[in-house]
Amino acid sequence: HKGNHEHYMQKEIHEQPESLTTTMRGRLIRGGTCKAKTVLLGGLKDHLKTIRRSWRIVFIGCGTSYNAALAARPILEKLSGILVTMEIASDLLDRQGPMYREDTAVFVSQSGETADTLHALEYALQNAALCVGITNTVGSAIARKTHCGVHINAGAEIGVASTKAYTSQIVVMAMLALAIGGDAISNQARREAIIDCLFDLPNKVRDMLKLDQEMKDLAKLLIAEQSLLMFGRGYNYATALERSLKVKEVALMHSEGILAGEMKHGPLALVDESLPIVVIATRDACFSKQQSVIQQLHARKGRLIVMCSSGDATAVSRQKYSGSAKTWHKGSLKCQKLQKVHLSATFQKKWIT
Ligand code: UD1
Ligand code: M6R
Repeated sequence: HKGNHEHYMQKEIHEQPESLTTTMRGRLIRGGTCKAKTVLLGGLKDHLKTIRRSWRIVFIGCGTSYNAALAARPILEKLSGILVTMEIASDLLDRQGPMYREDTAVFVSQSGETADTLHALEYALQNAALCVGITNTVGSAIARKTHCGVHINAGAEIGVASTKAYTSQIVVMAMLALAIGGDAISNQARREAIIDCLFDLPNKVRDMLKLDQEMKDLAKLLIAEQSLLMFGRGYNYATALERSLKVKEVALMHSEGILAGEMKHGPLALVDESLPIVVIATRDACFSKQQSVIQQLHARKGRLIVMCSSGDATAVSRQKYSGSAKTWHKGSLKCQKLQKVHLSATFQKKWIT
């Protein structure tokens, strides 16, 4: 039941602190007598050795599930040292792309029933790859046909737009990376930092959700727009793609997620005083590069909405808003001149860093 919420998507967005906790329950272990921090994925424990011997790990999915895998890829690459590639299920099938028995193919699907992903699974089975599922729906076709896997345990997702499944999928793939990476001494500090961040994640999401009203206010400013660009890089390239998918699907507005590193190779031509652009600039390895992207966009008088980590409002805005820019809530909500206002909102956003 959707309770006090207007629709299921809203309910599911607000459920994330609980769904993320359930995803990690019994799998991420900290403290106890030995104070060790470990990961236990029951569905994979008998297969980890085979996965570690793989020639590559290939993530396969569609839409949001693909984006979740893209967000998790850097952690898996770093912790496992194994080549990690990405396939959109329909494209793999269109190309009849290479798939070998030395591959581990990881199928990511909330429903576990998506036809393209299921067909790609059948293709990988025919090619004798080890097939691993990351699914939300127990008993679904993909959960049944994969050799092994992990249920994300996010609870039923009823809204058509995938929301809480996305964050639980990323968390499961981060745990998968920890499990495959094993306890190599060289990774110890990074492993412990990731585990601590995962434990902290539900609280961070709870804090994020307190910005709900501010986000609704911002949405009112943008609803009449034709288009919305999202710039991200590193982990947040996937965030940019996923957000633009949501804007298309839910707001029925054109939106494009752009890898910020590609900005000067074409997309910069689109930047002007009217097109709103969201830039994700959280405190991760790409922060300083994103600061320079913001400066370049500002030099072109881009209409920016910067999403940054807590406390970084100055670090992402000092140079750029000294001119005629107004803050979005000061400038437009009160006077309602939506089209004329130069947006420069800065939000506090935390992500897995
Ligand atoms: C399992 C139980 C859980 C119980 C726990 C206790 C189920 C569904 N889960 O959770 O209720 O509390 O043991 O130890 O009974 N699988 C696939 N493909 C997929 C997803 C999963 O083959 O896409 C397989 C797994 O390899 C595993 C089984 O399904 O054999 C259950 O997976 P999962 O629910 O993730 O395992 P546990 O977390 O151990
Ligand atoms: O159930 P699946 O995760 O396999 O679905 C894949 C996509 O169809 C799905 O994520 C779609 O992109 C969402 N509706 C987006 O919100």
